[in-house]
Amino acid sequence: MVSVSLAAAELGELGILSELPTDLALRGAFAFLTRLSRARAFLEEYILPLQEEAAGAEEWYLAHSCEDEDGAYSLQVFVWPPGSSTQIHDHSSWGAWCCEVGSVLEERYERLDDGSRLEHARLKKAWQLRWSAEEGASTVLPGAGGIHRVGNPGAETAVSVHLYGPRLGEIDGHDYDPSRDYVCGRVVA
Ligand SMILES: [Fe+2]
Repeated sequence: MVSVSLAAAELGELGILSELPTDLALRGAFAFLTRLSRARAFLEEYILPLQEEAAGAEEWYLAHSCEDEDGAYSLQVFVWPPGSSTQIHDHSSWGAWCCEVGSVLEERYERLDDGSRLEHARLKKAWQLRWSAEEGASTVLPGAGGIHRVGNPGAETAVSVHLYGPRLGEIDGHDYDPSRDYVCGRVVA
């Protein structure tokens, strides 16, 4: 994995975003990602080489990241080979992401239970959308406001850029298994 080096002004902007209320932060994150995805230098250094690098990969993976040392934000570039998919999960922070190369399918879920039973969650699929570079950015709220699965059912490798805000808890998020109404915390890697 290669670290993304951003300009000081961009890092400063991410620091400011991380201190905003979630709704404002998400609007700012959307604008930040839109600008980044149009920046020729960023595309040439971090995105376009991944199509070749990912040849032969079968599972999705984190290719690049830029992490704040205090955990205030995290910028991550993911590669999605054809047929790869995450499990259903949520995040302990707000997040915004957009697809730069190819397209990915996002399935979103609602939680039907009240969360009072340990390791129990009942989910219902709410919607699904295919995202490509023209579609803009998808956003998630922390916890149950952003339960989703992201994958690439297409035939071409996809690349996406994600920006996450500060974590609101000790864990990174939750992983769900709706086949047995199961949920568990996901420890920070
Ligand atoms: Fe996610």
